[in-house]
Amino acid sequence: MASSEFAGFYKLTPEERLRFVSEFAHLDKAELDILAASSALKIDTANRMIENAVGVMPVPLGVAMNFLINGKDRLIPMAIEEPSVVAGASHAAKMARSKGGFWTSSTRPVMIGQIQVVGCVDPEKARASVLASAEEILKKANEQDPILVSKGGGAIALEAKVIQTIVGPMVIVELMVDCGDAMGANAVNTMAEAVAPLAERITGGRVYLRILSNLADRRLAQARVTVAKEAVGGPEVVDGIINAYAFAAADRYRCATHNKGIMNGVTAVVLATGNDTRAIEAGAHAYASRSGRYSPLTCWSKDGNGDLVGEIELPMAVGLIGGATAVHPIAKIAVKILGVKSARELAEIIAAVGLCQNLAALRALAAEGIQHGHMRLHARNLAATAGATGSLVDKIAEKMIEEKKIRIDRAKELLAEYSKGA
Ligand code: MEV
Repeated sequence: MASSEFAGFYKLTPEERLRFVSEFAHLDKAELDILAASSALKIDTANRMIENAVGVMPVPLGVAMNFLINGKDRLIPMAIEEPSVVAGASHAAKMARSKGGFWTSSTRPVMIGQIQVVGCVDPEKARASVLASAEEILKKANEQDPILVSKGGGAIALEAKVIQTIVGPMVIVELMVDCGDAMGANAVNTMAEAVAPLAERITGGRVYLRILSNLADRRLAQARVTVAKEAVGGPEVVDGIINAYAFAAADRYRCATHNKGIMNGVTAVVLATGNDTRAIEAGAHAYASRSGRYSPLTCWSKDGNGDLVGEIELPMAVGLIGGATAVHPIAKIAVKILGVKSARELAEIIAAVGLCQNLAALRALAAEGIQHGHMRLHARNLAATAGATGSLVDKIAEKMIEEKKIRIDRAKELLAEYSKGA
């Protein structure tokens, strides 16, 4: 397998970059054509994906370089509109190589389906009856998805709890479903709906909601990294990153931004692979609040050598089969670029990217500040917005950076000046 390490990838043209990615991931001509086409998602396909489709909304697809995950080189496809995220991930992934890259793990891909039962005369007794009928309920659930069961997945356990609400007690029946390589929403919701009549018969209550929970805390992905202190920028930067983490752990205003930075990386890969970004976001933030206090999804410390150690754990309900991943042409190519063969492998890589993105943000914040990295791309955007094309974009951007006047009015002035001279 070729190395994902590549200094100055950003200096190549998009065509040259695509050639590299194509060789790395063995993309064929048809796949290259799809990536190169400005609207690879045809309206017919879009129309089958959602209702009332009128067009498509393209988002840039970038590739983060330098990732070494569990000893294997990976290119990371990221779909995102925000500048500096892909560059930040690539830069931090390079630092992470200093001590062998990222190491990951994950739990079995178990999702929770919830069945809400109200109006039970004796909720505790109803709960006990549900537990006593677990075998029958699980059998009914598994009859809904023989294929999943034949592949080693399916409903594997049942739990029940009584909760107190503003309208009285409720019995909540929870199906634990191993979703295999699927995200699992369809499988779990179908099972939850199928067992609802049984739940009513067993409890004597009335079922309302039958739906999966996005707090997928039985389907977790973990990643860990050690970064040599020299690679991060020295002991002071290591301390800066640990202080940044401590700030987030103590203050929810900072913590929201800390976790947002993690989700920059996570969501970009989730979107690129056609997975459900909202499910992942909801699960991540709910998991971050599991102690009752909204907390960072990562943790940073230093080891005996003074090197930086980072860890992340978050729910990761992503799939490779079904959903947009199976039909969106770009998502299929993104999966191929990643080279993943199972949903767990994908989940673990996404956790590593989240950890890496957090490292990129905290390192920049603790060292030169976040604006530094944004400046060049921002200047180029302004030059293009002012109407510059071709080599004038870079020329105007360089000048504005040199003058430290990165503004649209200055871009327009420079464009007028350089256009006159041309
Ligand atoms: C910007 O999209 C993300 C950051 O604000 C994250 C952070 O502050 O940790 C840079």
